[in-house]
Amino acid sequence: MPVRNTRETYGLVSRLLHWLIAVPVLSLIPVGWYLGGLSEESILYWRLLELHETLGLGVFTLILARIGWFLIDPSPDLPSTLLPWERNAARLTHRVLVCALVFIPVLGFLFVASDGEPVELYGLVAIPPVGHWSKDVRETLFDLHAYTAYACATLAAVHILAALKHHFVDRRSSLRRIAF
Ligand code: HEM
Ligand code: HEM
Repeated sequence: MPVRNTRETYGLVSRLLHWLIAVPVLSLIPVGWYLGGLSEESILYWRLLELHETLGLGVFTLILARIGWFLIDPSPDLPSTLLPWERNAARLTHRVLVCALVFIPVLGFLFVASDGEPVELYGLVAIPPVGHWSKDVRETLFDLHAYTAYACATLAAVHILAALKHHFVDRRSSLRRIAF
């Protein structure tokens, strides 16, 4: 498999980044949702929150790397078997997903880091707070984090269903372009 993309298919770096981002994102959403139902007094809440924050900041780093790689290595042409509206929808979906994965972790981080306390990750890393912001601003940041995350989950579901339909119903090779 070539390291870089060709006109027809994704190369090794794009495929690795796609799955290194997709798998944590697909777990961050249910974990975030589950956290909402846990009491802050339970140890599980703090363990899962630390996991959520660490994975979320990891996704943020990887999406910046993905954007850098987009600039160095343009994506292959979309399969010629797609209808024009499907190509436009696929291109738009990919762009919105990438933008969402920049904003969601930033909003989550600002929410956590604006209570005046450092953000501690497993007691190993302590990221300094960004300040001590008002309750209203912090609530808005949290709401935006939650809404954009659920909007991203919906779009990711459409993306996955479209990929599966294209592979299993239309019997085209798009899944093989990104899988290993
Ligand atoms: C791509 C990355 C991320 C995704 C997809 C994501 C997704 C979510 C979701 C779906 C929720 C549940 C919202 C609700 O129903 O109320 C949530 C909650 C939360 N997220 Fe994230 N998140 C991400 C990154 C981060 C980061 C980087 C941080 C902080 C460093 C963070 C901090 C939080 C906090 C504090 C909560 C609230 C937990 C609670 O209920 O007490 N998230 N996240
Ligand atoms: C089971 C889960 C998933 C499957 C089966 C899947 C499938 C695919 C396929 C087949 C392509 C290539 C489309 C083409 O032919 O050009 C692709 C590209 C892409 N996917 Fe996914 N995907 C999954 C999860 C995700 C998730 C969770 C995200 C982000 C939230 C995501 C974001 C993207 C983006 C941005 C692209 C464009 C190329 C790239 O950045 O690497 N995918 N996906």
